[in-house]
Amino acid sequence: MIELRDVHRTFSATRAVDGVSFTIERGEVFGLLGKNGAGKTTTIKMLTLQLKPTAGEIFFDGRPTLGNEIFVKSLLGLVPQHLNFDQDLTVEENLELHARLHHLPKVERRARIDELLKFVELERVRHSGVRELSGGMKRRLLIVRALIHRPQILLLDEPTVALDPQVRRKIWELLLELKARGITIILTTHYIEEAEFLCDRVAILKRGRLVALDTTKNLCAGHSLEETFLALTN
Ligand SMILES: Nc1ncnc2c1ncn2[C@@H]1O[C@H](COP(=O)(O)OP(=O)(O)O)[C@@H](O)[C@H]1O
Ligand SMILES: [Mg+2]
Repeated sequence: MIELRDVHRTFSATRAVDGVSFTIERGEVFGLLGKNGAGKTTTIKMLTLQLKPTAGEIFFDGRPTLGNEIFVKSLLGLVPQHLNFDQDLTVEENLELHARLHHLPKVERRARIDELLKFVELERVRHSGVRELSGGMKRRLLIVRALIHRPQILLLDEPTVALDPQVRRKIWELLLELKARGITIILTTHYIEEAEFLCDRVAILKRGRLVALDTTKNLCAGHSLEETFLALTN
């Protein structure tokens, strides 16, 4: 469903992504694993059309991103690495704003916001200001905000950074629930156990290059994923 073909992205002298090719299949949970600076966020930004590759091409359902921006954007929901809510708005108002940006008609907006708040158990704080929420609640809100227009593909950049293990586990369950509903999930992480728990396949990046890509099961075979990861990235 998604194909990256020899994709590069440089920032002056830095080769953030340095000739990466792979495909992501419909319905899978695909992980981009790598240390800080490996090129994960740059890859996500190119997949979500926030950055253009300096060379190479990305295809969605066989169509190049160039010239098909509206089609591609309709497929995608993005959970960014950094929280970017409007801090002065309530939970509901933040979702409302996002729904308007996606041109959802008013009746549908109401129903969708109700459904999503219920899904992530945030109905109770619906009228609270975003800054009053706990870290885990903010993450859940960020995820449902990305789902408002019913995207087929959800991309998450380090979805559980700085969360405690219990809250992280809750986010993991939420993502598996979305997978069960047929959503394709692409996530970046530097937590090996996160990739191990969630991902069907994992791509390991090191300084912008792909150093491994296989099923999580195969990457773990004979070792732990951690051993494989450390051996490939050190
Ligand atoms: N806008 C930018 N300008 C200059 N350098 C950048 C920019 N974005 C990323 N980089 C550099 O590209 C490399 C990869 O960054 P990034 O994709 O954010 O890695 P990751 O998300 O894996 O931590 C890093 O060396 C980073 O400093
Ligand atoms: Mg990053």
